[in-house]
Parts: sequence; structure tokens; C-alpha cells
Amino acid sequence: MSTTATKPRASIAARTLRTDRWWLAPLITVVGLGAWVTYATVRVFLHRDFYVADYHYLTPFYSPCITDRCGEAAEFGAPLPSFWLIPEAAFTLPFLLLFRLTCYYYRKAYYRAFWLSPPACAVPDGHQRYSGETRFPLIFQNAHRYAFYAAAIISVINTWDAVRAQQTGLGLGNLILWANVIMLWAYTLSCHSCRHIAGGRLKHFSKHPVRYRFWTFVSKLNTRHMQLAWITLGTLALTDFYIMAVSAGWFSDLRFIG
Ligand code: FES
Repeated sequence: MSTTATKPRASIAARTLRTDRWWLAPLITVVGLGAWVTYATVRVFLHRDFYVADYHYLTPFYSPCITDRCGEAAEFGAPLPSFWLIPEAAFTLPFLLLFRLTCYYYRKAYYRAFWLSPPACAVPDGHQRYSGETRFPLIFQNAHRYAFYAAAIISVINTWDAVRAQQTGLGLGNLILWANVIMLWAYTLSCHSCRHIAGGRLKHFSKHPVRYRFWTFVSKLNTRHMQLAWITLGTLALTDFYIMAVSAGWFSDLRFIG
């Protein structure tokens, strides 16, 4: 019979032995996400300067525009009344919020930065108890796959907005809209759920060459998921700001054609 002597754990008074700037990444996340959420919330409830009729520029924060405040921007009808608590994109914003909130990358980011759970590797958790994502409310994080389906449909709508704007010619606003749409597709397709949908539950890739090629493509994008998550926050805010500025008359759209 063999016995294994176990040494008692060392008693260390320090909260962490890390001496590097481990707090920098969570701090940047708090500042970056906090600033973006503040900007987006203000814009969504501003209810103005969201559309440039001459060039069919519609900001993604108001797409599809479905309240009776939308006017010409209501490409898909306007079934909702205008009320300050109802965003113009009331149908899509909840799904986009769910998609980002349940995203594997954002979960890591805000668990660390806002819940300190834990703030960094080898740094103690900010909470006494840990129940993970197996109980209410975090068990709803498992709905991510369904949020992905909704986000894919919304990316199609954003693509339609860019196509619609393209019909009036070409300006700087068109380039910004297209850059945003391309980045949104890259972020959406790089989703971990998308990768599993593309290549999961298969025994032989050799028997599914199309899915294998798509899975390979998605896998390459997936390695950049964190960067794409931040880049799309930037392109969304930039697109919205540009359209707001042109719509409000702060400056004119730079036109190349039309
Ligand atoms: Fe980030 Fe799906 S894991 S969007």
C-alpha cells in the first residue's frame, strides 16, 4: 500500500503575488465598454439625426426603423408609435444586446472587469461564492446560439441598408457603411457558436467538404474574435456619428459620385 504525503498549503497573506500591471486590461475594458454603452444609450434615446434622406443613410442604431417617427427611413413599415422609451429599432436592439452580452469574449471581459470574477489569473475572486453559469441568471448565457441566429438576420438587414444607400451614388458615408457591414459580418461569422454550427457534430469532414471549407474559414476568423468584437464597437459608433453629423448639418457628406 502506498501513501502520499501531502504538504499543507502555504499560508500567504498577500492577495496576489503578481507584480505586473494585471489591473490594466480590466481597467481598459471598464473604460472602453462604459464609454461605448453610454454613447449608444444616449444615441438610441435621442430619437433624431438618424437618417440622411438624400443618400438613404440610416444609422445601424436605428435599423430597421419601425416607429412612426421614421418617415422615409421605414423600409419595413412603421408598426410602433413614437414614444421616448421605444427605440426606433425596437425589434432588433434586444437581440443585438443579447448577442453581445452572451458572447464568449464579452463574458470573459465583463466577468473580469465589472464582476471581478476573477479580475485576472492568479488574482482572487471579488466574491465569496461562485456558482458559475449553471444557475439562474447566468444559465441564460447558454442561449447564445439562438442570439447568433438573430444577429445573422440583422446583419442581412444592415447589408440591405448599405445596398440601399449605394443606389444614390458614392460618398464617404457609403464607404463607412460598407466598412461597418463587412466588419459586422466578420464578427458575426467568427462567433464560437457559428464555428460549432459549421463543423460540429460531424464524424468525418471528408464526407462534408462544403462544411469543412466553411468551418476552416470561420476558424480563421474565430482566432480574431476579440479584436473583431472591439473593432465592430468602433465601426458602429463611427457610422452612427458620421450619419448623425451629416443629418444634423454639422458637415456635408463627401461625394465622389452622385
Ligand atoms: Fe462572441 Fe458568439 S462567441 S459572438
